[in-house]
Amino acid sequence: MTTRIEDFSLLDPAVQSNPSAFYALLHAQQPVYRMPETGMYVVSRYDDVRAVLRDPEVFSNDTTAAVGMNSGVYRIHHQMLTERGWPHIQTLQRTDPPVHGRYRRLLDQVFNIQRVNALIPRIEEVTHSLIDAFIDRGECEFVSEFAFPLPGIIIAEQLGLDRENIATFKKWADAILAPAMNPLTAEEITEVAEIELEMQHFLADTFESRRREPREDMISALVNARSEGEEPLSMRELQNLMHQLISGGYDTVISGLANSLWLLLRFPDQMAKLRADPSLTRNFVDEALRLESPVQGLMRCATRDVEVAGTVIPKDSMVIVRYGAANLDASKFDCPHQLDIERRNAGAHLAFGNGTHFCVGRLLAKQEMLTGFTILLERLADIELAGPLPDPPHLPSLLLHGMKELPIRFRKAG
Ligand code: HEM
Repeated sequence: MTTRIEDFSLLDPAVQSNPSAFYALLHAQQPVYRMPETGMYVVSRYDDVRAVLRDPEVFSNDTTAAVGMNSGVYRIHHQMLTERGWPHIQTLQRTDPPVHGRYRRLLDQVFNIQRVNALIPRIEEVTHSLIDAFIDRGECEFVSEFAFPLPGIIIAEQLGLDRENIATFKKWADAILAPAMNPLTAEEITEVAEIELEMQHFLADTFESRRREPREDMISALVNARSEGEEPLSMRELQNLMHQLISGGYDTVISGLANSLWLLLRFPDQMAKLRADPSLTRNFVDEALRLESPVQGLMRCATRDVEVAGTVIPKDSMVIVRYGAANLDASKFDCPHQLDIERRNAGAHLAFGNGTHFCVGRLLAKQEMLTGFTILLERLADIELAGPLPDPPHLPSLLLHGMKELPIRFRKAG
């Protein structure tokens, strides 16, 4: 059995899919680990991750230059958006205080608890309609038939698309995530830029029409959001914020829903407990996000030489804050690899980050998962895997943790 850090690579899809043994080694031996393949520093312990997230002065979110997004083939992307659309600028997640505060105040107005509560009936309705479509078959492919359309329909509607256009929305989301996922060729980058341009022009028309005639959707709230004494958001800012909402708020929830169900299938005693006491669903959602964090890590850039857990991270280094590893730290969570839906400190997980950039959409994400699982467990009994999962079960990614597919079988409840 492999027990040495050198035998693992975070670029290996098998390790990305099931990183727990690697994380345990890092916690014990190299809590700040320099990836030999990329030179990036991975911070893995709970307390260190939390401290890094709470120190935006030293660990900056402005990583564009370091990641090289404006160099090489990415220049083609930039040029196409400059000539025919709106080139990216730094907003929200890619900014540090005090600039970050302007965007964050506006976004917090849009993603408040009232808005999420008002969406609950719609989330319930969509959940039921998705289940209606497959329940008589006694089986479904959970990722494509449930985990993907639930957040997709909700967010697409909030962005002004109708349900029929959900496939368009998925195409946009894939295209804007693509440059951050894997290195792309010139041909591929041209293709994704073309799709992004199509999205930008659709959104620009929608911004204008919602400015004139606001509706009850998120896009109207964002276009018309104001903070005292501040200019409204410009077209470039709006375009960039939409980009972040789509890229940050979609694959993450798909992953949260799929990984959570897979956890219940692997821990049937916990599924039985949840069925017996649905009031535990809220804590189950947190516990599942802890154990299989949809965002395993994100980037920071060190603004000066800084020591973390005995390792000096040199100025200008890229740092990966590893939320997924922090959430499996045995010094914070007892028996961290166990799904325990009654875990008292499940909500202390860092799956939504912490501090300055704490996830804007966490209330919406948790509500989608809460409503989704409440209704799924009411309507489907005896859920089990309908076939072997692909090996490895997760899509390859250094940062995200999406499942490829999850075929299930069940009986109609009641
Ligand atoms: C289970 C689902 C989700 C997970 C696991 C997740 C995870 C995260 C994490 C880890 C961060 C922190 C980024 C950082 O430290 O730099 C974050 C920020 C953010 N998330 Fe989420 N997210 C989820 C759902 C959503 C949804 C539904 C939306 C919106 C529709 C959203 C929008 C954002 C935005 C805009 C930020 C940037 C906030 C800022 O920089 O101030 N997320 N999310």
